[in-house]
Amino acid sequence: MNAPRLDRHRLPHHIAVIMDGNGRWARQRGRPRVFGHRAGSKAVRRVVRACRRLGIEVLSLYAFSAQNWGRPADEVHHLMDLLGEFIIKEWQEIMERGIRVVHIGAIRRVPAEVRSRLKALELASQRNRDMTLVLALSYGGREEIVRGAQRLVSRAAAGKLRPADVDADCFSRALYTAGLPEPELLIRTGGERRISNFLLWQCAYTELFFTDVLWPDFKVADLRAAIIDFQGRSRRFGLTGEQWEERDG
Ligand code: FPP
Repeated sequence: MNAPRLDRHRLPHHIAVIMDGNGRWARQRGRPRVFGHRAGSKAVRRVVRACRRLGIEVLSLYAFSAQNWGRPADEVHHLMDLLGEFIIKEWQEIMERGIRVVHIGAIRRVPAEVRSRLKALELASQRNRDMTLVLALSYGGREEIVRGAQRLVSRAAAGKLRPADVDADCFSRALYTAGLPEPELLIRTGGERRISNFLLWQCAYTELFFTDVLWPDFKVADLRAAIIDFQGRSRRFGLTGEQWEERDG
């Protein structure tokens, strides 16, 4: 039997990625962890290009979690530098390829220089329409949900929101990801099988794909394999198979 092929008419609209394994990749080579992050940055470039070429609408990358601030200071420093470098190096290509860049997360903690570069890129790319690249930076899913709840409570306290108005759509609009489609496919590299506080609310019905490939080794072929696997899944959103097939009459 022929191996399944990627169907370009049934692509996930939104792919989210937990890029894990940089440290182990470096250790396997007897190099410091930051060496792995640098190689990871090249994989970011590869995957952004591939998603844009395929026609993926939204790509979300977990670049730095709220919990990553607890890592050794020099590693944090290096990751921030890499991000700043990425913005400068990729700026032109991002614009040429029509990619809109947005961040999610508490970036007030990000060093001012990197933060202002990021904001400048967000502003410059805000009208780009061919793909949205979401950078999760200083991001935590629980933190996002708590922040959303605080925003709704403030509006309620100001008399601008009634408890009965709070439903799932209203809550979604209070999150960083307001206006973005929910991820249909979440890829995690590096062998662990967990979500690690990434897009907790948004991943309620997301298909999960775990691979042992370490992030710096993640190639376009691995991305395609994840999408092909996704295309073989049966998604029913809580309904029975029969209901799902008959849902449009
Ligand atoms: C997890 O691997 C990876 C990170 C915490 C950082 C991800 C950052 C990059 C891929 C590079 C910079 C990003 C951009 C957007 C330019 P790990 O260090 O936990 O790996 P380990 O589990 O093997 O130790």
